[in-house]
Amino acid sequence: MGERAARRRDRRVYGRAHPVLFAVLGAARGRDVVRVGRTVVVNGAQAYKEALTRVPLDRAAAGTTGGAVRELGAGGGLFDEEGGEHRGSRRAVAEGLGAAGVERLRPVWRAVLDRRLAPLAAGQEVDLVPLAREMAGATVCALLGVVAPPEAVAEAAGVAAAAAVRAELPGPRKPFAGRRAAEAAARLASLLGPEGAGGVPAVLAVAGVNTTVAAVPRAAAWCAEAGWWAYAEAARTRAALVSELLRATAPSPVLPRVAAGDAELGGCPVRRGDRLVLVARHAVLAHRLPPDVRDPAPPAVAQLVFGAGSHACPGARLARAQLDDVLAALAPYRPAVVRARVDRRAALPGWRTLVVRSGR
Ligand code: HEM
Repeated sequence: MGERAARRRDRRVYGRAHPVLFAVLGAARGRDVVRVGRTVVVNGAQAYKEALTRVPLDRAAAGTTGGAVRELGAGGGLFDEEGGEHRGSRRAVAEGLGAAGVERLRPVWRAVLDRRLAPLAAGQEVDLVPLAREMAGATVCALLGVVAPPEAVAEAAGVAAAAAVRAELPGPRKPFAGRRAAEAAARLASLLGPEGAGGVPAVLAVAGVNTTVAAVPRAAAWCAEAGWWAYAEAARTRAALVSELLRATAPSPVLPRVAAGDAELGGCPVRRGDRLVLVARHAVLAHRLPPDVRDPAPPAVAQLVFGAGSHACPGARLARAQLDDVLAALAPYRPAVVRARVDRRAALPGWRTLVVRSGR
């Protein structure tokens, strides 16, 4: 146990599931901006922010998050929108995900936490991945006003994201990838029903579930391995802990985008049509600076794990509140990790199983 062990364990989610991507990114991370053919890899915080706020982006291009959203038949789902259309969709989600909206949703995920963590008190094991899935599914259903089994919604959102990402990977198109993505999207749409119809609800479900299911178990495992439950227990230190764990895990580590016009990033010319690989993980120095509760990164840096500019994550407040509650609820048990298995298929690096037991 210890901080090094925590870091070592967390790195496994990349190595096993996304080995090629992370080897390439690792090799390119020495400079703020690196061009490899028509691909521009962006590592520095300033260049990352400028890419998201100043470079014209083709929001619906193949191989981008917006392209994946279209692959799911969820066009008009924020990521792929621009201008007035995008502002309208943002307004539609702002209330549900704002301060009052998050407080309204809180009892929903707290009920899941209370029930799912109760076995720890009896000395039993708890797998935090299904817990995160149910929590995320129930929260998204409540946000959308949909009555559906939370775990089924989370499962469908996970399969849909993985299928869409696979269909959008660069290189020769994989056989059946598009059909699989369409089938997964149809399953999610049928679960969400008429209240959840359209691009925005589907995107909220996919974005909200997959990030939470990746982030929560990774953060809890880090806390357990590093022996940081006392920080999680004290309200005084918990906000910094949440922020630092989100920074160090950067649950959405790479944002694939495409330039829609010429620009410059950190002295590197960018041409229309260039592929931009925006490495959130490097921009927040997750690879270099381990989390430090006593000396956390400034909020402006830590917040970059949620993107920047007009498309910055509208779910950031919800994500922070959920992680805050999960860590607070776990802390009294001082959980230790008993077993863990990496999820090799998920769209985002994370655990398939992360079983903990009370260390008291
Ligand atoms: C730890 C959890 C999360 C992380 C790390 C995360 C990260 C991100 C990032 C990096 C972006 C892209 C921002 C950009 O292009 O500048 C994004 C966008 C988005 N996120 Fe999150 N997110 C999280 C949780 C959530 C949750 C809980 C929801 C909703 C329930 C959500 C909904 C969205 C939506 C709808 C967008 C698209 C916004 C737009 O294009 O206007 N996210 N998120």
